[in-house]
Order: sequence, then C-alpha cells, then structure tokens
Amino acid sequence: MKISINANRCEPSPMRKFHPFAVKANEAGKKIYHLNIGQPDLETPDVYYQAVRQFNQATLAYEASPGMPLLIEAIRSYYARLGVELDPDDILITTGGSEALLLTCLSILDPYTEVIIPEPYYPNYTTFVHAAGGVIRALHTGPEEGYHYANKKRIEKLITKNTRAIMITNPGNPTGVVLDESEMRMIADIAKKNDLFLICDEVYREFCYDDAYGVPTMGRFKDIDDNLVIIDSVSKRFSACGARVGCVITKNKELQQALLKFCQSRLAVATIDQLGAAALYQVDQDFYRRSKEEYRRRRDVVVDRLRKIPGVVVEEPMGAFYVMASLPVDDSDKFQRWLLEEFEDAGETVMFAPGAPFYETPGSGISEVRIAYVLKQEDLERAMDLLAKGIARYRAEQMNEE
Ligand SMILES: Cc1ncc(COP(=O)(O)O)c(C=O)c1O
Repeated sequence: MKISINANRCEPSPMRKFHPFAVKANEAGKKIYHLNIGQPDLETPDVYYQAVRQFNQATLAYEASPGMPLLIEAIRSYYARLGVELDPDDILITTGGSEALLLTCLSILDPYTEVIIPEPYYPNYTTFVHAAGGVIRALHTGPEEGYHYANKKRIEKLITKNTRAIMITNPGNPTGVVLDESEMRMIADIAKKNDLFLICDEVYREFCYDDAYGVPTMGRFKDIDDNLVIIDSVSKRFSACGARVGCVITKNKELQQALLKFCQSRLAVATIDQLGAAALYQVDQDFYRRSKEEYRRRRDVVVDRLRKIPGVVVEEPMGAFYVMASLPVDDSDKFQRWLLEEFEDAGETVMFAPGAPFYETPGSGISEVRIAYVLKQEDLERAMDLLAKGIARYRAEQMNEE
C-alpha cells in the first residue's frame, strides 16, 4: 500500500506538534500558558447558543450544499454594510475558512501549478496547496523589514506561465501586517493584469488596530470580480472557532460551478452550526468595537514586554492577534521543547509556535516565534515574564555547555 505523493508533501501543523510534550508537562504538574494557537478566549455571543437551543426539527436533516439560505442572507447583509453587494450564488458556506481554502485550491490548481504567497504565512496553506498538487512560490520577507510584502516588483518577479493565483492574508497571520488601500489596489491590479486568481483570506478583517484602515476588504474593488476569491469565517470574528462555519465568496461563475461540485460531494455543512452562525451576524456594532479594543490592549502588553527582553526583534503588528518576533536563541523549536521539558518557574511555563514552519524558504525563521495574544491581560503578562526568564536561563545553560 502507498500513501499519496500529495499527502507526503504535507507537514504536521507547527501549532499542534508540541502537543505530546505539553501533555507530559501537564502530567508532571506544570501549568502552561498557551500562546501557540489562535483560539480566542473571548465569550462567543449568547445569540449563538440561543439559536442552537431553539432548534426544534424532529429530524436533523442535511442542509442545502451551497449553505443555509438564512446564513447566506445574513452574510449578504453583513457585506452590504461593508459596501460589497453580493448575490446569494456568490457565497458558498463551508466548514470553516479551512474548507473554503481547500476547496478553492482543489478548484483552481493542477499538479505543479503555482500560487504566490508572501512568507511567513499560515502553515496550513501548505497543506491546502499541496493537497491539490500545487506548488508555493514564496515571496520572502523577514523581521528586519517588518514582514512587509506589498512590493510590486518582487511580486511580479515571481509570476511564471504556471502561476494560477496570488494568495494573501489581510490582516496577516502570523505577522499582523495590514495592507493600506494603495497596496491592496496594487496587488489587485497585478492579479487583473496577469489573469490570476486573487485569494484573499480576510478572516481577521475586523482586527485592524489603526482605525484609519477601517474594515478592509478587497471585495470593494468591483473591477476584479472575476479574479477575486474571499475566504471568510465566523471563527475569529465572533470568537466561535468550534462552530466550524466559514464561506468562500466569488463572483467568477466558472469558479462558482467548480466549487459547488466539491460542496455537493461533501453534501452539506452542519445544520445547527449554520443556524447559530446566522444568529452571530445579528450582534450589534459594539461587539466588534469591544473585541477589537480588547485585542489592541493585549497587543500593546505583549509588544511592550517583548521590547524589554534583550535581543528580541519585534515590530508592532497592526492587525489580527499575532505577533512574530525574533528571539536571541539558536533554534526556537529546540527552545520550545526545552521550555516544556526542562524549564519551569513556580511550576509554570509557556508555549508559542516556532517560526520555521511559517516559511517555505529553507533555513528561514529558525530563531523566530509566533505569539498569539489570545489570553487575558494578566495571563499575557505572566506568559511574557516566563518567556523572558526562559530565554535568560536557556542562554545561560548554553553558554555553560560551550
Ligand atoms: C489566516 C487563517 N485563515 C483561515 C483560518 C481557518 O480558520 P477556520 O477554519 O476556523 O475558519 C485560520 C485559522 O487560524 C487562519 O489563521
């Protein structure tokens, strides 16, 4: 028996690969501050649970393959408020943004065709692209340039006859980079001029900490309707990761038909979760404001504390709820394992995501980490304290060994 080449080209998730070590550390009685996974801790709005409790159909039936009409309508109204007019057919409901990404890759890629993605990027993109047989052409950025990737020449240089798409995350995970209006326009123009799909993962849209950016979406550029694919989700916006509800949005009719075939083959997304998700879109505007303010405060705490650790290179992220930082350690993967196996301070330690798997280019990101600021302020402060102490002790141990 043989495992497929595509499966063998995929990697385990860097956010979850330390789980067995974390279990052992827990068993040994250590408390772990988890900054490794983008799992928001804010309460899911109660309207979700109310809607789920009110479900009273005698049979839990399949929903329609493109999604529950009630949810599609709720998403249309939400986009209309952002200034984006959508038809119901433009929206296909998926099991999270994750399935939206996978189905998009399956719909547009053939073996050895290429997707341009600025690195560091969300590592599961590798799995989605590789599952479809595609190849990632990474646009390299690093900590010293604040991970800014909106450079016309550098993007255009990566386009070949095999390029099918440009894929970006705005606001960015893991970097927190947010594109301004002219950068969004420039990338849209490149996609249009070169007849490429522009896959815009906008699941962190509401989390932009410079209010001048508003709530960014490529959806407002009407002239790229044929190129644009928006990836969206309720996971981060409404602190509802467990609902597993997202969507893929495109006005490209051919792509809609391709996506629909995949949607039909997996029959439907969970009925009750779609009902709950539709209710989430009824939250008042104040919910968005409060969530953003909370994450902005958390970002400030983390960046402020990181800047005080000698040798750390960090730039203030402008969006999402992650910060990428370069640490004064030889290898952040090794350091993370050491933090779980050998380090503790008053019975506590900390977890983050090591940087290398966020890069396609070999040798990149080895001393970098991604920190998800998804804990309340006092826990973040303690976690940063543990990180500072851990770095100091790790370096001292290494120097003694030399
Ligand atoms: C950039 C990005 N896109 C998509 C997803 C997928 O999220 P979900 O499948 O929960 O919607 C995530 C989750 O962390 C993400 O960070």
